[in-house]
Amino acid sequence: MNDEQLYFFQDWFKHHLLTFQESDPLHQQSLDLKEEHTFRVCAAIDRIVSGLRLSENDHRIAVVTALFHDLGRFPQYQKYRTFRDPDSDNHAKLSLSELNRHHVLQPLDFSERQIISRAIFFHNRLRIPENQDQQTILHCRLIRDADKVDILRVMNEHFQIEESRRNPVITLGLGKERLVREEVYRLLFEGRTMSYTKLKTINELKVLQMSWVFDINFRPTFEILKEGNDIGKLAATLPDTVLLREALDFINDYIERRLQSE
Ligand SMILES: [Fe+2]
Repeated sequence: MNDEQLYFFQDWFKHHLLTFQESDPLHQQSLDLKEEHTFRVCAAIDRIVSGLRLSENDHRIAVVTALFHDLGRFPQYQKYRTFRDPDSDNHAKLSLSELNRHHVLQPLDFSERQIISRAIFFHNRLRIPENQDQQTILHCRLIRDADKVDILRVMNEHFQIEESRRNPVITLGLGKERLVREEVYRLLFEGRTMSYTKLKTINELKVLQMSWVFDINFRPTFEILKEGNDIGKLAATLPDTVLLREALDFINDYIERRLQSE
């Protein structure tokens, strides 16, 4: 991929979003959030890749993956009025349908198209499927890291807004009860995450997102997380319990160990 192709994709994305404009301000805000998320994921992936000293071509592939990873969010919202995949459709699959429908990746080599498509397709899976080649695994890991750090930011910004003005689309329509079931914390201590479908409350979603740290792959991503204290900020919005404190210590120890070992 060359720079011209990268600029073409960035240009295409901006123009394509204009076809999803909404007249209702709340609906438009939901789309704006996804647009902003996309550009922030591009910035995050740029920083992660720079810290890893990858090739120029890998750099461009990573940025294009970030640019298109959530493209399916726009038709998803237009059709179903939700970002909850189980209630609508897998948004990663929708991203690929949208790219294919408009033949967007056509100018690229087959292998580059395949890497980008797979990284997008696997970005929201609980785990990256086995038996993928090294390049695919690299780009899957990059987009998954960049996506997670920005979702944590989105959540923190959401909880800074006064409650009546929050857009419920961010918290997937989950319950407001303060309770976090012990099993959600237990999974975190095992370094695993709960499936979205089993979540009951917004607070459980926060714990699930805190446990994402165990799925982070690269040193620059840990640096971003430490610098922004995103997990600490999210934890501060949860009921202050022994389990929460233990979880936070567990996570912070893990981040320190990963920063020291890489
Ligand atoms: Fe996504």
